[in-house]
Amino acid sequence: RPDPCTLVLFGATGDLAERKLFPALFELARSGLLPEHFAIVAFSRSKLEDASFREHVKEGLQKFARTQPLDEAAWKRFAETIETASGGYDDPEAFKQLGQKLQDIAKRHQTGGNQLYYMATPASTFPQIIKSLSDADLLKREDQPGKKPWHRLIIEKPFGHDLESAKALNKTLGAALDEKQIFRIDHYLGKETVQNILVFRFANAIFEPLWNRQHIDHVEITAAEAIGVEGRGGFYDETGVIRDMVQNHLLQVLALCAMEPPVSFGAEDIRDEKNKVFRALRPVEGGEVPQHVVVGQYAGYQEEKGVKKGSRTPTYVAMKMNIDSWRWQGVPFYLRAGKNLKKRLTEVSIHFKSVPIGLFSGGGDTCQRLQPNVLTLRIQPHEGIALSFESKIPGEDVNIGGVTMDMDYAESFKKPVPEAYERLLLDCMRGNATLFARQDSVEQAWGYITPILQALETDAGGTIHTYPKGSKGPDAADALPAKNGRRWSTL
Ligand code: BG6
Repeated sequence: RPDPCTLVLFGATGDLAERKLFPALFELARSGLLPEHFAIVAFSRSKLEDASFREHVKEGLQKFARTQPLDEAAWKRFAETIETASGGYDDPEAFKQLGQKLQDIAKRHQTGGNQLYYMATPASTFPQIIKSLSDADLLKREDQPGKKPWHRLIIEKPFGHDLESAKALNKTLGAALDEKQIFRIDHYLGKETVQNILVFRFANAIFEPLWNRQHIDHVEITAAEAIGVEGRGGFYDETGVIRDMVQNHLLQVLALCAMEPPVSFGAEDIRDEKNKVFRALRPVEGGEVPQHVVVGQYAGYQEEKGVKKGSRTPTYVAMKMNIDSWRWQGVPFYLRAGKNLKKRLTEVSIHFKSVPIGLFSGGGDTCQRLQPNVLTLRIQPHEGIALSFESKIPGEDVNIGGVTMDMDYAESFKKPVPEAYERLLLDCMRGNATLFARQDSVEQAWGYITPILQALETDAGGTIHTYPKGSKGPDAADALPAKNGRRWSTL
């Protein structure tokens, strides 16, 4: 089990806490995975009171907990670990009281003074909260890793708005803490199927020899959502799909697919290799942007609450990316993400090259159209892995048809797939940073994305295409792969 600790949750009354964090903590508690000595302090700017806040958490769990109906006995035990604190983020008195509470909890719950701060608040509040914690002596820089009691900080994306603000944020964090104390959550890295990309690549001998420019024609990464902005119009309109999904989630997935084998499965070795991928991304700037990036906005977006009339914020993006590395030279990576699309589908497909000659061309019509093999890593829903290949259709003639070998997680392992936040919270309590984004990678990713955003936010980026809700996105996106005779996989 992880070390005893107290988790201080800033933004405890927010959406993320209700939908993801409390359900994840509850599931960990229910499964006996939390530290034996553990407490939560829910911190909010509005006045909170233990009993009514616990009731609020319970109501949230009744909607969002992974196992339903709610396990009442587990809830009773979990509820006892939740306490509250409140005050302004810049109020020294509130942080003094928080300090007293933490000392008191450390005695009552025997948490040994280990403290984990979770910033489920807008990024604009991070500097002030960090300052107030440091001033109250509640957040101390660890000069020797592994020393106890430990203080760790979890922050939620977005890690900045562009390269400059990301650097400023990292500077603030770096002034207060050692990098090893900072855990930047990208919940895609906590998804089982995303973690499995590395296992698939490096625990199996058959695919890795093919995983390069000699055998792969192109790679597609799709994150399609069927939902819209869901009441988050104000936040989303400032963010848009590239900051919301590409700069973090999709680039992380791309890095796992493209990285070299790490020296070990340790956090730094894996993060070093991912960082090399980000460094090798070929920059796309200014007038080149329209050849590499197509953006769209769903019809009706501008009527969403919180969205400005005339907004140019994209809700869809398709991109062609190149990695200038030995392994990937000449292999384009096509990425697309969007809201209000036909269906929810997140997957990576690896499209292999065609066979060198059409040996079967004499045997009837179908033989003319051999389909290259495609390996699909289905991240969600229907988590699994599929490999398509060509096969002879039974009969007198040599007719060929496509078939698929399919592995389905639910079928194969007959156990529920844990939520990303469960794994990530546990890893942070264990001090394992493998699945968290490191400062250099965050800045590299922003370094790639920022010029694209700048071009799109001025006229150099070209048109924003409107697409109907429930569609595959704007038709204009087809041109990206079509230029090289390729097509998007169907949504
Ligand atoms: C979040 C984005 O990070 O990821 C949301 O802010 C998006 O806009 C969500 O809907 C998608 O996550 P998932 O796990 O549903 O694919």
